Amino acid sequence: MALFARAMFTKAILGLSILSSDLAFSPGFPYGSEKVRGVNLGGWLVLEPWITPSLFDDTGNPGIVDEWTFSSLQSSPTATATLTNHWNTWITESDFAAIAAAGLNHVRLPIGYWAFEVGPGEPYIQGQLPYLQKAITWATNQSLKLIIDLHGAPGSQNGFDNSGHRISFPEWHSNATNVQRTDTIIKQIASMVANNYENVPIIAPLNEPAGFDGNAVLSVVNQYWHDSYGNIRYPFGSTQQSNTVELIHDAFQPLSYWNGVLSPPDYQGVAMDTHIYTIFSQAEVEMTQAEHISTVCAKQSSLSSFDMWTIVGEWTPAATDCAKYLNGRGVGSRYDGTYLGSTFVGSCTGLTGSASTFSSSYKKFLRQFWEAQVISYEKGAGWIQWTWKAENADEWSYQAGLANGWIPQDPTNLMYPNICD
Ligand SMILES: *[C@@H]1O[C@H](CO)[C@@H](O)[C@H](O)[C@H]1NC(C)=O
Ligand SMILES: *[C@@H]1O[C@H](CO)[C@@H](O)[C@H](O)[C@H]1NC(C)=O
Repeated sequence: MALFARAMFTKAILGLSILSSDLAFSPGFPYGSEKVRGVNLGGWLVLEPWITPSLFDDTGNPGIVDEWTFSSLQSSPTATATLTNHWNTWITESDFAAIAAAGLNHVRLPIGYWAFEVGPGEPYIQGQLPYLQKAITWATNQSLKLIIDLHGAPGSQNGFDNSGHRISFPEWHSNATNVQRTDTIIKQIASMVANNYENVPIIAPLNEPAGFDGNAVLSVVNQYWHDSYGNIRYPFGSTQQSNTVELIHDAFQPLSYWNGVLSPPDYQGVAMDTHIYTIFSQAEVEMTQAEHISTVCAKQSSLSSFDMWTIVGEWTPAATDCAKYLNGRGVGSRYDGTYLGSTFVGSCTGLTGSASTFSSSYKKFLRQFWEAQVISYEKGAGWIQWTWKAENADEWSYQAGLANGWIPQDPTNLMYPNICD
């Protein structure tokens, strides 16, 4: 009683209104003072047809367009064997070693809800969790910070194939059961890593919810970010704060849409993830190389002025949508006019596939575009390129960029440091 009274007295003298545990918040990486430089491990624990087209082509079934149909439209033993082999080979500890050797400090790991829990009628095949554990160990060994990114939620949060289920209208937000199931998974992830915040400093509770579908989605997303704040920042109960950071996504809204939402001083330990691509519309694929560069350079001021740590968690040096299956298996490219309703801009030959087919002037552009993005995104809290490797789309691959010279071995070693000036 006496101790309690003295604590109250001290608090009163110092005028403190916050709990002392709040003062101890100490994330596993000095966000805001050191730049995030990283890569995504796309296409590993969540399949994407364009990252590994062979896995889809080898099924011989054109109806297999995402992980849902990969699991439902072929025999379960076949799908399981293919997936297991893929999980064992696509990313290994040597990838983590190469990522660290390239001067990067973060990896973002997409994983689907179905790694944790599969509901009735959902065909997903499980078995990803041991690989998440391996990834945490490898990141720890290589001094890389791992971001766990929930990339697919029940019902699909965006209908994209990379949510696991390609559907015309997403059904996550409109069904409270789906949202509750996702909350439960985030709680599970948060308690799994709460004491390992130095190696897993961030959880991204949902990738790319479909804010473009309007307020019905955005209001659910806003509430979900608040609920995830409790789940991620207070995994031990409601008084003891964790050091784990919540990484929310802008849901395709301008950063200003989120002004004051989950921001300091009322909230701490929340970072913003924004994805910057300049290739997913007719107008964008029509841009010149110089326009692609000036578009990404123009992001500098909004990134530097937003009141949260703002990480560009996905971006690419690719300046076309030419990569095979990028818009979906069986869907063409706007750039060469094979996408329904698009208008031909140019041939995709020499712009995607193997770097051995890339001209020296194209590789020079890839370097310039890469550097412009790094310069611009480091005006915020940093960047995470999509993606570490791809079977047959070297313009997207960090690994291929390193091997072919348009990405420097040291990401601070720029050839065009004034490209955004
Ligand atoms: C990584 O850590 C695991 C578990 O501690 C260990 O078995 C493995 O040998 C380590 N690998 C390297 C390269 O240190
Ligand atoms: C909501 O989603 C759950 C699965 O999470 C499903 O079982 C249920 O049928 C859905 N409800 C409606 C109304 O679609």
